[in-house]
Amino acid sequence: MGQELKIFSGMANRSLAEEIAAYLGAALGDVEVSRFADGETFVKFNENVRGVDVFIVQPTVSPASNMIELLLMLDAAKRASAQRVTAVVPYFGYARQDRKDQPRVSIAAKLMANLITVAGADRVLTMDLHASQIQGFFDIPMDHLFAAPVLMQYFKDLDVRNAVMVPPDLGGTKMARALAGKMGLSLAVIDKRRVGPDRSEAVHVIGEVAGRRVFMVDDLISTAGTVCEAARVLKENGAKEVYLACTHGLFAGNALEKLDAAPIEEVGVTNTVRISRKPPFRKIRVLSVAEILGEAIVRIHRSESVSSLFE
Ligand code: R5P
Repeated sequence: MGQELKIFSGMANRSLAEEIAAYLGAALGDVEVSRFADGETFVKFNENVRGVDVFIVQPTVSPASNMIELLLMLDAAKRASAQRVTAVVPYFGYARQDRKDQPRVSIAAKLMANLITVAGADRVLTMDLHASQIQGFFDIPMDHLFAAPVLMQYFKDLDVRNAVMVPPDLGGTKMARALAGKMGLSLAVIDKRRVGPDRSEAVHVIGEVAGRRVFMVDDLISTAGTVCEAARVLKENGAKEVYLACTHGLFAGNALEKLDAAPIEEVGVTNTVRISRKPPFRKIRVLSVAEILGEAIVRIHRSESVSSLFE
């Protein structure tokens, strides 16, 4: 594409957007995002975007005003005659509500996809969707990136000798197996089963963890209940130490305090979502995905392969 490329950011994770822009050798574009007295959002591009290949960086993490900002920026860019607008959504929120698994509930992930499309996105660039089928909720091109290279490097820097990869629950097996395969590590899984209608769960570890360094990996941490419980089970089964790496650190409520108290040595978490609460949380190590996102943006702009980034 011959057009100029410009990158803009909402308020949700400006530091990531700045890092991406630096990777591209550019400065962030000038867009104003403010609030009216009643709380409504206002956005205005303070520079020309006519005919420009526009990329708007905004994870749609809670609160919902982050999504509203993204929608308004997409709409404003489109109405200002941008040649093409790409929503760069490092963390796609509401992804866990991706099916009608009970009566009278919303398929919120589909609704969010519709909103982004209707607001004017020509393309979407995202990372580690909670369920990759969500790609099908979009009828516009979507590039789905993986934080795996960054998570893998985190583990490699720790020392992989005598290590075993473990997902914190069976839902995370696919991600953990892929990483274990690439790193040449074995995989163990935590199998939780309800033993009867009124009986609590039986927990077994399938695979060898005793005396070993465990690398636990997950796509997201919200309350941290899943990973803290898994770490406890792994330690009970003789794991020497547990390290955790995760793509999206939502850290709801007292999740950071829970992680500090859990038998986990350290948590490597990417910067798809801004960690707004300040330390002391001695276990958190932030890993940057700016280079992956920046490189994907360059390739999209030049109409080059994005999947080859992960080969
Ligand atoms: C589950 O499917 C996810 O991959 C996470 O394990 C889960 O959503 C994390 O939630 P929490 O941190 O609240 O346990």
